[in-house]
Amino acid sequence: MEIGTIGVIGVGTMGSGVVEVAARSGVQVVARESSPELVEAGRSRVEKSMDRGVARGKLDEAARDAASAAITWTTDLGDLAGCDLVLEAVPENLPLKLEIFGVLDQVLDPSAIMATNTSSIPIIDVAMGTSRPQQVLGMHFFNPATVMKLVEVISTQLTAPEVTEAATAFATDTLGKRVVAAPDRAGFVVNKLLVPYICQAIEMYESGHASAGDIDDAMKLGAGHPMGPLTLADLIGLDVCLFTAESLYAEYAERFYAPPPLLRRMVAAGRLGRKTGGGFYEY
Ligand code: 3HC
Repeated sequence: MEIGTIGVIGVGTMGSGVVEVAARSGVQVVARESSPELVEAGRSRVEKSMDRGVARGKLDEAARDAASAAITWTTDLGDLAGCDLVLEAVPENLPLKLEIFGVLDQVLDPSAIMATNTSSIPIIDVAMGTSRPQQVLGMHFFNPATVMKLVEVISTQLTAPEVTEAATAFATDTLGKRVVAAPDRAGFVVNKLLVPYICQAIEMYESGHASAGDIDDAMKLGAGHPMGPLTLADLIGLDVCLFTAESLYAEYAERFYAPPPLLRRMVAAGRLGRKTGGGFYEY
């Protein structure tokens, strides 16, 4: 399966990163948002990020212009009709994802691959919303997607082996990522380890075990992590951390996956981390 054109649905933090990575890798990209305002916000996110690359000497102007020209922006899911692979990266809301996959099922070529970037919804639940679950799999990118080298590729019981192979080859050979095959179980590989660690850090902070700065510095300077767990939670988004912890707890019913009360309260208060200007730290 040749993948020369991809669609990305949802151009928020994760989707915009994938749009940029793909366009810079020479892929034609159709980027879809649900309103003209969100299209403009997505376009500006991608362009600012590439301009930063130019300013830092990591990207030359011709490459930036070629990448920009490779992206088509739209609000119409019908414009994804010619895509070889479509990645959905909308918020973690199963009815919304099912609605999108239902439309994709109508418009995409029978051989097209349908991928979701979900971090916490079982891939099979999304696949069963289509008439062709053998074409559906998970491709889970990491934030910031332009920098993080990993993609988890998640096959369900029904994903066709050639679909998994084509998605893996695309992520590896075209996008230059390292692929890890992960099972369709809550947390896949990374979040099954990472989210309980972040939840434990939140509990330590809430109980006064150590300050936020001390917890973060301890893990940076004592364990060699690039950022501490509370800074990382702010980067990921506390809503995403909560949703993922809830899905892990629902799947495994282990106490250590349960989201800590402070995480729930911060999400309820709209303190979601960097994207809202404040979480464990102010931005
Ligand atoms: N967007 C795009 N690029 C970014 C960025 C951002 N938000 N933040 C940093 N970068 C780029 C910089 O431009 C720089 O690029 P360059 O080397 O080409 O110049 C490079 O990353 C390094 O940046 P800095 O030197 O400014 O800072 P650091 O060395 O501290 O790196 C970091 C920043 C890459 C974010 C690093 O701190 C890191 O790896 N943190 C951990 C991130 C992580 O764990 N992400 C996974 C989260 S889990 C997830 O996404 C799954 C979900 O389901 C929950």
